[in-house]
Amino acid sequence: MLFDSYKLKNTLLRNRIVMAPMTRSQSPGGIPTDEVASYYERRAKAEVGLIITEGVEVSHKASSAYPNVPRLDSSAARDGWRKVVKGIKKHDGAVIAQLWHCGGFRKTGMGPDPEVPGHTASGLVRPGKRVAHAMTAEDINETIEAFALDAKRCEEIGFDGVEIHGAHGYLIDNFFWGGTNEREDLYGGSIESRSQLATNIVKAIRSNVSDNFIIGLRFSQWKQQDYEARLASTPENLKKVIGPPAEAGLDYLHSSMRRFWESEFEGSKENLAYWTKKLTGLPTISVGSVGLDSDFIDMSAPASPANIDKVIRDILNSKYDMVAVGRALLADHEWVIKMKEGRVKDVIPYTQEALYKLY
Ligand SMILES: Cc1cc2nc3c(=O)[nH]c(=O)nc-3n(C[C@H](O)[C@H](O)[C@H](O)COP(=O)(O)O)c2cc1C
Repeated sequence: MLFDSYKLKNTLLRNRIVMAPMTRSQSPGGIPTDEVASYYERRAKAEVGLIITEGVEVSHKASSAYPNVPRLDSSAARDGWRKVVKGIKKHDGAVIAQLWHCGGFRKTGMGPDPEVPGHTASGLVRPGKRVAHAMTAEDINETIEAFALDAKRCEEIGFDGVEIHGAHGYLIDNFFWGGTNEREDLYGGSIESRSQLATNIVKAIRSNVSDNFIIGLRFSQWKQQDYEARLASTPENLKKVIGPPAEAGLDYLHSSMRRFWESEFEGSKENLAYWTKKLTGLPTISVGSVGLDSDFIDMSAPASPANIDKVIRDILNSKYDMVAVGRALLADHEWVIKMKEGRVKDVIPYTQEALYKLY
């Protein structure tokens, strides 16, 4: 089943293997280069079912926190993305752009406008550390509009959909997280209110794109600021976090984990993706050290290819619908074909070098 085709909304995927979004920082001036286009094309040609692009900074003054990350707000950047999409479509691949606002990871002095500070829900970048700008209602509205505008641009470019980056401690996750959201307006106060930013972004995108266009949301319990942090410690609370954006018009959810085999809640052995699917009924992507024998935290550690029998079984048992693969696909663009043919020994193992090259 893992290697059979799968229909996500109205887009037919060649199989259920998804390339995880991975920032490559190789797009000077926010413009994806020809090398970036070839890097994605190689993976589409080698049968990756769905490519989720690296995070693309949304067209908001405070979205950026890292150099050479691609954007959408110049015609040169959009032309770069057209080449990426064309290369993927040449091989009947599917591609979704991940839309990203870096929130509190931004510091003053960073481009494009060095005067602009990091923006967060309450000025907090982690619990107790208040060094960012607490967003006003106007800042929030501008941000929502930026997501909606960029989603429309992605549809015009030819992407099959967009994924809202709501994970890993960045802006949307900063709103989700009780440790950093102390707002008392409609964007804070209860678990459901902390989801309001995500919900309003989904609604704004939905009303700006056509019905066929896919909208996904990636979320995580863990944060880069705190690997042990959690948005929800029970399934009931998880439903309060992801239920409202799901109902606002999402087509899938992407449950970001570091180790996909770990249980999420006490008393059950099932992972976050299982609960996400069970609680929302939406197609769900699982992820986290798939096909590797080391986990996501120590990216400098080399990892050998490992078997993916558990993923195959989980999908057969409808525990989740798709699986995203990150580092294994960075190191070996033919990972899907080799796994499908049972050629595990031929897989090029992941090493840190893969982070710096666009193989
Ligand atoms: C180099 C690199 C860049 C990443 N960039 C992003 C990103 O832009 N957006 C995102 O949501 N996750 C990002 N991640 C996390 C991956 O999408 C994925 O969740 C993580 O690598 C775990 O999957 P893996 O164990 O298969 O590598 C990145 C990971 C790596 C290794």
